[in-house]
Amino acid sequence: MKKEFKQLLSDKGRKKLPDVLLAAAECAPLSKTGGLADVVGTLPKSLKELGIDARVITPYHRCIKDKYSASVEHLFGFYVNLGWRTQYCGIERLVLEGVIIYLVDNEFYFGDKIYKGGYEEGEQYAFFTRAVLEALPKLDFAPEVVNCNDWHTAMLPMLAKTQYAEKYGSVRWLLTIHNIAFQGKFGFDYVQDLLSVDEKYYTSEFMELNGCASFLKAGCVFADRINTVSPTYAEEIKTAYFGEGLEGILSARTNELSGIINGIDVKSFNPYADTEIAANYHKGRLSGKKLCKLSLQEQMGLECREDVPLFAMVTRMTEQKGFELVQFMLDELMSYNDMQFIMLGTGDKEYEDFMRGAEARYKGRLCAYIGYNEALSHKVYSGADFLLMPSRFEPCGLSQMIAMRYGTLPIVRETGGLKDSVIPYNRYTGEGNGFSFADFNAHEMKDAILLALECYSKPETMQALIRNAMEADFSFKKSAEEYARLYICML
Ligand code: ADP
Ligand code: GLC
Repeated sequence: MKKEFKQLLSDKGRKKLPDVLLAAAECAPLSKTGGLADVVGTLPKSLKELGIDARVITPYHRCIKDKYSASVEHLFGFYVNLGWRTQYCGIERLVLEGVIIYLVDNEFYFGDKIYKGGYEEGEQYAFFTRAVLEALPKLDFAPEVVNCNDWHTAMLPMLAKTQYAEKYGSVRWLLTIHNIAFQGKFGFDYVQDLLSVDEKYYTSEFMELNGCASFLKAGCVFADRINTVSPTYAEEIKTAYFGEGLEGILSARTNELSGIINGIDVKSFNPYADTEIAANYHKGRLSGKKLCKLSLQEQMGLECREDVPLFAMVTRMTEQKGFELVQFMLDELMSYNDMQFIMLGTGDKEYEDFMRGAEARYKGRLCAYIGYNEALSHKVYSGADFLLMPSRFEPCGLSQMIAMRYGTLPIVRETGGLKDSVIPYNRYTGEGNGFSFADFNAHEMKDAILLALECYSKPETMQALIRNAMEADFSFKKSAEEYARLYICML
């Protein structure tokens, strides 16, 4: 164990690192719609390397059953009361790369989509919350810290402290906010009906926000500590622009709020060993990256040209990701510059249709793959020259880190984790590992793209930037150490 942890523990009169359970709606590689899954899949592995027994509890989604049922062990089953409903709950166990994952089984709630949307999603995750609270005392594991993630699990601290006080008296609750824009807001009647929350908590002091019950607000009020996924976002969410109505409670709890930047799974995302890509490469030998580009162009129906700069986006297509700027500027960029563009993403219909239209206008130069495709994402990260991420807000962002790992230079807006992970190119000192712009403004984005194009025409500058990007350390080790410190200080 690290000396520092020994010292921190002995200050608390303890020798052993705390046992930790992470509760989350998704966990890669089992289930994934975005970066939350990557973090929940990777963090426990890195915590284990530090000596912490970290386990995960997550729904047994259809997509997990389809792929992993043969490796899953049934532990026990029981019935959960969800208001007037009585629902079956199975607890299964899966061991993945040494990490124990408890899977909450119920075919009605988790037999289809990871997120059902609307009120049904409220019931889905109210069930998960109740199931976790009922299952925990029955497990062969007694965590001292439960690390909740986002609104789906944010009701755990409140319910544990108000409805299960005798059972959970000594457990400490950490709420990690990956995205404050999703809060799980429902009518009070609905929350009463599902989780029997006492009416006295339906006030702005506890969980009321804009006339609704906000699961995430309840988490911010009742968790022992709160953290988010980058230091910059931890500051931003204390302001009205980013805070989504929670800036007040977060400012009030500023001493219990911190920001820990995520890392990525550097084993899964490794250009030197990745089996999904056309050729492997490393920072000292980039010829493989050129082959990846040609193979990607061919696969996506673009002109196979090594000399043309290839821009890409790999993303959920939502307002968060800055699609308004792309909509505004894409035609101007494509008309005046010799460049190619690949979009890999799915999300809001408006943006999907816009990109399909653009593909028709720029055949052979622009390709819009509307859908979720993990294998293709590796090909895009390795084959592109630049990754565009002009987010309106970005709690952390993993795509820009993955891109850098593959020597693809990010072009980002300076917000949240993008600001904390990308060092903008400085034409005077040559410093940097990407490009950035400050304001949420299409012309500022265009200027950053034009600077990237200028660098592309100077091979030496490009080489240096690519090397800087590939040398950056985005492994989860540093983040895991910060989580470990936080868990210890919560004891
Ligand atoms: P967010 O969690 O907000 O969606 P992140 O940048 O943190 O954004 O994480 C996104 C993750 O999801 C990355 O691992 C990215 O590669 C992956 N991803 C996003 N969209 C797609 C897609 N259409 N196909 C494959 N992977 C995707
Ligand atoms: C959320 C955020 C993203 C972050 C991810 C993992 O989905 O939108 O910025 O990287 O969670 O923490």
